[in-house]
Amino acid sequence: MATNNTAFSSKAPFLWHGGDYNPEQWPRETWQEDFRLMNEAGVTVVTVGVFSWVSLQPAEDRYTFEWLDEILNGLQAHGIKAILATPSATQPAWVSQNYPEVLRAGETGIRNGHGGRTNYCPNSPDYRRLSGQIARKLAERYKDHPAIILWHISNEYDSWCYCDTCAARFREWLKQKYSTLDELNQRWWTAFWSHTYTDWAQIMPPRKTGETLTHGLNVDYFRFMTESQIGCYKNERDIIRAITPDIPITTNLMGAYKPLDYRRWAKEMDIIAWDCYPKPNQSPGEIAFMHDTHRGLKDGQPFLLMEQTPSSQNWQVINALKRPGVLRLWSYLAVAHGADSVLYFQWRRGRGGSEKLHGAVIEHSGRSDTRVFREVSQLGAELTKLRDAVLGGRIQAQVAILFDWDNWHALENAVGPVRDKQYYQTVCKHYLAFYRKNIPVDVVFPDSDLSKYKVVLAPMMYMVKTGLAEKIERLVEYGGTFVSTFLSGIVDETDLAFENGYPGPLSKVLGIHVEEIDALYPGQSNSIVMKDGSETFTCDRLADLLHAESAEVLATYSTDFYAGMPAVTRNIYGNGQAYYLASDPDDAFLDRFYGDIIEHYAMTPMLAMPEGVEISVRHTEQQAVVFILNHNTHTATVDLKELKFRDLLTDEPLSDNIVLDAYDVKILVETAE
Ligand code: GLA
Ligand code: ZN
Repeated sequence: MATNNTAFSSKAPFLWHGGDYNPEQWPRETWQEDFRLMNEAGVTVVTVGVFSWVSLQPAEDRYTFEWLDEILNGLQAHGIKAILATPSATQPAWVSQNYPEVLRAGETGIRNGHGGRTNYCPNSPDYRRLSGQIARKLAERYKDHPAIILWHISNEYDSWCYCDTCAARFREWLKQKYSTLDELNQRWWTAFWSHTYTDWAQIMPPRKTGETLTHGLNVDYFRFMTESQIGCYKNERDIIRAITPDIPITTNLMGAYKPLDYRRWAKEMDIIAWDCYPKPNQSPGEIAFMHDTHRGLKDGQPFLLMEQTPSSQNWQVINALKRPGVLRLWSYLAVAHGADSVLYFQWRRGRGGSEKLHGAVIEHSGRSDTRVFREVSQLGAELTKLRDAVLGGRIQAQVAILFDWDNWHALENAVGPVRDKQYYQTVCKHYLAFYRKNIPVDVVFPDSDLSKYKVVLAPMMYMVKTGLAEKIERLVEYGGTFVSTFLSGIVDETDLAFENGYPGPLSKVLGIHVEEIDALYPGQSNSIVMKDGSETFTCDRLADLLHAESAEVLATYSTDFYAGMPAVTRNIYGNGQAYYLASDPDDAFLDRFYGDIIEHYAMTPMLAMPEGVEISVRHTEQQAVVFILNHNTHTATVDLKELKFRDLLTDEPLSDNIVLDAYDVKILVETAE
């Protein structure tokens, strides 16, 4: 079989299947059983070393790598590759004991006791030194080990530290950014409530017990904490890279995780990897949106599904099992949206610790005659069959949706006009209007190249960064479509409101100005009445009271004192158009509104799908791989029209109709005959 040069590792040019393996919790006899069962389940890649710090370095001057030597050799002997993690997500007790300032401080600024995980200060010099030291030892020892295909630095970087070390570093960071206190005071608008700083030493992290209402401070602390945590990652990464320049390096991200700006992380990571733990009742479309967000982080590059549970989570309030078939369906959902792996947390359930009831491939019984093991093994066999068929495949999207972490923080920090802004949910809601129609969407960021898209959406783009409006103007001028909504164009990137009215720099392309913003109570709504009298839709939450300048009014509000004012506008700008949705409309409106835009650009999926059935295509250099996913709990029939396909899992030729059972997936390539 030809080696696919788009593989993340030439040592493993196939879709990876496996997951987190923490053998240090078990005696040696179990390891042999693990390897045997991994082979049986079609496991090809496991992640080892996450949280292994004390097992590898029980004291500052003592290392115990022998068990890991044995594990890596055992894996290699069984044809299994390893993602080697550095153990820095949990420092051993001896580290906290000898260097107490390594411990993190929570929102009150008081240092935590030792325990839990990610309980370290990202700016602690001792933490940086010691985590760097163990990373170096690992890299030196295993640099030539044939099993290792990827470095996994630490684990799920998370949350913030508010300690005095961080406070001091933050002040240095601010000096770099603003140079003078005057400038900082200006940017943070500290004349308000007599908050003007007269000495750098007065600036503190936004601790719960202190200053939490200076928005500029809050947004900057978020940026600083993102950089601080990235600093930990880079510290280890650079040490490792110097020793193993050919092994890619990653860490695992966490989806819709607000505290850290993943777009900034992406620039430092060779490969995006993320842990997919949907909330109870999250729909497949919402999960797809998270996958697409991660694909977007590196501008369309495939990513790794680093973790998912094979059966249940344990940290939600209620942890339902994945129904039979759902593991397979959601694994392929990830692959269909750009994942080049299917990995689980965890291989074997521990007998103790807080994750002893978390789903695993091997449960406490140690048995392989279980539903979960069978489903994992079946999937393993299929992934072996697929091998590299889809590897490196790209999704070709003409629609992009803008997402921005700074905006998320600024918007949700703002006090008013409603407390719960629902930024993430709103972006997802607009995404879903395209997902329902099987039109692929890329998630993009203010620094992305927008010129390759026909349609760019920017729901709730409250913070408009320098240069973004100009990029949007260019897109529209050349025939593109731009859509923005209520609460857009309010502040600049330092979180200061624009002086010449909303939507700030977007006013020109949108051809409107917003005079006031109304907030609606739960249960209260208004209606969007289409100008042509064709239809009426419901809207709620927020309602801009705006005036059309060069824009034309497509719909108006039906009630309240602003009845008759514009609710939807379109501004022709150059060869394209820019729409503004002044309120939060129902899905029926979005289906029609985006339906018209989709029609305007003649975008159509390869095949029409019945309700609840998804079609997604990944394009490799060789072929277009078509995923048809039945998210329904009942069978569905798909009409293949005059097209002919080959089923990649069965090699069968397919034409006319295909029937998919509940939760079934077909993976096809088009053929001439
Ligand atoms: C995260 C972590 C794992 C484990 C799982 C449990 O993704 O990375 O170590 O705690 O959650 O769902
Ligand atoms: Zn700190």
